[in-house]
Amino acid sequence: MTDSKDWQADLYEKVARKSPQIIPFLKYIYFAIIIFLIFGANSYIKKGEIDQFFYTSGVWFGRTALTLLGIVVLPGILGRFGVEIKLTRIITLFRRQLGILVFVLAFSHYQLVRGISIYTDQIPLFPRPIFEVLGTSALFLIFFMFLTSNNFSQKTLGKNWKRLHRVVYLILWLLVLHTGLQRISIWSIFIFTFAVLEVTSLAYYYLLRPKTSSFSNS
Ligand code: HEM
Repeated sequence: MTDSKDWQADLYEKVARKSPQIIPFLKYIYFAIIIFLIFGANSYIKKGEIDQFFYTSGVWFGRTALTLLGIVVLPGILGRFGVEIKLTRIITLFRRQLGILVFVLAFSHYQLVRGISIYTDQIPLFPRPIFEVLGTSALFLIFFMFLTSNNFSQKTLGKNWKRLHRVVYLILWLLVLHTGLQRISIWSIFIFTFAVLEVTSLAYYYLLRPKTSSFSNS
């Protein structure tokens, strides 16, 4: 137990020291995505399967966004339960960058699986199935979180910034429905687990936690 704590403390210190170098490096992920799409598209054009390539990439962007969203909300959940492990502090170091990546991936997911087909009149804008309407609502709310994920907004909005970012609880449930109404899969079960943990951790924090404790509710 002590060994595992030392190991985590070591890792946290190393990552925290290197975070000013790691954060700008995360931006290269966006270039990697663009390069992947350009080269991938190029090879699939030759095979005549370009639509399939974009669609499959789009679905995986959605799945990656969902996974990262789970990672981003994990420190808050564990914090409310009073679980303090260094691994969650490492996530907290990159929380903002990961949140921005969630929006970029979710937005690209939308464009690749539906947006482009709608703009090119291959499918109509209305009516859309309910699971898509719920996904669009989640994307819309994530957009506001994305717009306000900077120091300027945090300072200007003050207490309202925290209130606005609580919208993430609603986003989780919208995504439970977005994925669950398509099919019961590892993705719908994954996001359902996080949505339930969010609710139970909030209930624990506000109703059951020992009052002397002072852990975070972010
Ligand atoms: C925050 C925003 C979103 C996230 C995180 C997200 C996530 C996901 C995930 C994880 C899947 C895969 C489900 C599975 O494999 O069972 C999926 C599928 C899908 N999503 Fe989204 N989604 C979002 C928004 C949207 C929006 C706005 C639309 C379109 C209006 C959309 C349309 C679709 C479609 C059509 C599929 C089915 C793909 C297929 O398997 O054929 N999504 N989404």
